[in-house]
Amino acid sequence: MESVSLFAPASIANISCGFDVLGLCLDNVGDLMHLEKSNKPGFRITEIKGQDLPLETEKNVAGVAAQALLKAYKEPVGFKLKIDKRIKAGSGIGSSAASAAGAVVGINKLLGEPFSPLELISFAMEGERLACGSAHADNVAPVILGGFTLVRSLEPLDVIPLHSPLELAATVIHPEIEVKTADARAVLHNKIPLKKAINQWANVGALVSGLYQEDYDLISRSLVDEIVEPARAMLIPGFDQLKENATQAGALGCGISGSGPSVFALSKGMTNAHLVAKSMAEVYDKIGVPYEIHICPINPNGVQFIEPKNK
Ligand code: HSE
Repeated sequence: MESVSLFAPASIANISCGFDVLGLCLDNVGDLMHLEKSNKPGFRITEIKGQDLPLETEKNVAGVAAQALLKAYKEPVGFKLKIDKRIKAGSGIGSSAASAAGAVVGINKLLGEPFSPLELISFAMEGERLACGSAHADNVAPVILGGFTLVRSLEPLDVIPLHSPLELAATVIHPEIEVKTADARAVLHNKIPLKKAINQWANVGALVSGLYQEDYDLISRSLVDEIVEPARAMLIPGFDQLKENATQAGALGCGISGSGPSVFALSKGMTNAHLVAKSMAEVYDKIGVPYEIHICPINPNGVQFIEPKNK
């Protein structure tokens, strides 16, 4: 195999209660990438469409993730990458994770799959480190594994794929402003009152149980964030009203997608997810914030290989 084309999906990190540990993979939002073997050892990005991002390997999240993989592979091999970047940087749905994960999954395929999914997650995390200074895995894990994932530990890396109820659907509204993850992390408090910590870990456990039991009421009761959301809500225009509208429209829960500014809601079934989208759109229509909306099921597959259209 000399080349691969792939779809690298967007993702929602945190899922309210699970800051830096929970994530889920989205279905129809993502970047397109084309990777080719090259006679010249090393990794080069030859084209980025859709966004103004650096082509230099060491400045690009896909580049540093690819370099981490090539360093571990040890033999001299070469690859070229073209990216059609469709997830906006700084939108809160794992733009950097998609690029980093797509690059390493694609190279691994061209090398005959020498690396495990867990190793690929660790390479892709280097992209996250470049993007925001913190090598979190809650976006790259669901992009590589699909579905819902839980990062139990970073050292050693321990990632647990979770059950994903078939009927769950996500609505994501993206106010067209950029919030840098590093800035959204800087507003967080380092100390947490014990009572809030207790509530938060109770909700993480309950959410995981709710997913396995396909208990939508339990999922709904557990989609609560007492720690991160209160600190970050001020970064997002109309956040309280979005949440109010989504809940009124029947969402199981609503919170900040990753580090924002996108706001997500989970619903039972696509019909409800569309109603929730309408209710959230009304908020931004009223206050005049430009936005885009994504409505989709949870993606069980993660990165997917596709037929190349135009290389
Ligand atoms: N867990 C990370 C954060 C995700 O919330 O900062 C960033 O995409």
